[in-house]
Amino acid sequence: MKPYFISTAIDYTNALPHIGHTYEKILADVLARYHRLRGREVFFLTGVDQHGQKVQQAAEKQNISPLAFTNTISEAFVTLWKKLGISYDAWASTTNPVHKSVVQQVLSNLLKNGWLYKASYKGYYSVRQEQFLTDKERGEDGEFGAEWGEVVFLEEENWYFRLSDCRAWLVSFLEKHPNFITPSFRHRELKNAATKVNTDLCISRPKSRLSWGIEFPFDSEFVVYVWFDALINYISFAGYLSTNKENSFSTLWPCNAHVIGKDILIPAHGIYWPCMLHAMGFSDEEMPHLLVHGFWTLHGEKISKTTGNVFDVTEAINRFGVSALRYYLMRDAVMGRDADFCEERLISRYHSELSNGLGNLLNRTLGMICRYRPEGLLSIILSEECSTLLRDHMTLVEDYCKQMEASNIQAAIESMIEIITRTNIFIDATAPWQIAKHADQASRLSSILISLLQSTRIAATLLMPIAPDAAHEIFQQLALDPISLENHVSIPSFPEKYNAKTAIPVFPRFVEEKIIDPTESR
Ligand code: ME8
Ligand code: MG
Repeated sequence: MKPYFISTAIDYTNALPHIGHTYEKILADVLARYHRLRGREVFFLTGVDQHGQKVQQAAEKQNISPLAFTNTISEAFVTLWKKLGISYDAWASTTNPVHKSVVQQVLSNLLKNGWLYKASYKGYYSVRQEQFLTDKERGEDGEFGAEWGEVVFLEEENWYFRLSDCRAWLVSFLEKHPNFITPSFRHRELKNAATKVNTDLCISRPKSRLSWGIEFPFDSEFVVYVWFDALINYISFAGYLSTNKENSFSTLWPCNAHVIGKDILIPAHGIYWPCMLHAMGFSDEEMPHLLVHGFWTLHGEKISKTTGNVFDVTEAINRFGVSALRYYLMRDAVMGRDADFCEERLISRYHSELSNGLGNLLNRTLGMICRYRPEGLLSIILSEECSTLLRDHMTLVEDYCKQMEASNIQAAIESMIEIITRTNIFIDATAPWQIAKHADQASRLSSILISLLQSTRIAATLLMPIAPDAAHEIFQQLALDPISLENHVSIPSFPEKYNAKTAIPVFPRFVEEKIIDPTESR
């Protein structure tokens, strides 16, 4: 089976990582970890987008070189991903010389095959926004508004990619491949946009205007447009055009999931990228799959530095911990839809589903075994009520896997919660503390205790991709291994004799933060 190749967008290094970047990397990490649990080989690629105007401008503001600037910010991304346990296999940073060389070879090949041309463009140009303006940017009065700053008439030579020549191919490709994008409503949106492609893509910037980029291999007056550079990361870091004998590009490609946000589907990933690949000679069967997520807002509003509506990820980790944050972001966002970050909901989900749900199940289970089987729990054949419980759990494990295969992490988590809820109900219904009073029911009690351990083990296995540290802690306390999700999914056997240790809360409740009244100290 082909390795599961998953990538994320590479983040601009003009500013520090935010909640949107964090959500996307966790989302990809959960899927990567899930597929590893299924026994698949995984190639998880993420990284940073280091070139372009935004980075050059941010560096200028601080009076340092763009390279020094981007390196510092890139470090902050690496540090955060390490804290959050993002288990990537390869790091894409676009100043990497290997990447640069692939971008240049791609350009040379495209030139050779007639896909590029140089032309001059005349038009109105906003100095502040550093972009050409079209009639679309004119206000109702026919003038360019104040937001564009000084507008000058400019004539500039540039390199163009024959994007409009790809329109017919793209439209028919999208017709034939309704599964190109998840979720499917994005597919309709893209098909609509594809029919409207009628201009070629300007893929160069004159160095006089922007110098921070990859130089054109055949025209040293120009650097490559940042999107053209950035999109190529998906193949350059997977070994495309590599002369290395161990090169695995042909086994890795196509990418199973380019995880991206909804703002960079049209035109970048939905139009430019497939057309670029098509021009490079990739067949329809070699097109990647796009997994498009929604946006996070904060208090119902767009996260924005200018309005001060920001969210400090590191501070959130310090307050809630990595497991709670990862869990909440995956639990509260439906794949493809927007979500609003709400601290109260983070706390209430954590308390009800983790502290009172899985955490309590672990505590009760180990607590009862310590109390009722202090000399050890011996393995026995399970009673009918217990076999039924575990069989039903396994159906939910299958549902979990189905949802994960479809990248519906939120729905997969619901299957996990259902296992926990049913098991906690089972405890209350069977009341092991009553059974323990009757010596003649010893085997029924053992059967129940074993099935509680197995249930906890199953639920914790399903938690592994989502909150790996917490799951690891549970397995430490259980002193049992996760169940295997490889091939046919089934409950593993139970040891001949099992001794329980006392549980230590894995999901301690958050204490109400004391609100300090500033008048008190007066
Ligand atoms: O677009 N909620 O970089 P970027 C969820 N360098 N996701 C969000 C978000 C939010 N509020 N804000 C941004 C770029 N994102 C390019 C990508 S890929 C070859 C080049 C997502 O730093 C956004 O949709 O602006 C994108 O997927 C990622 O964060 C990086 O955004
Ligand atoms: Mg952006």
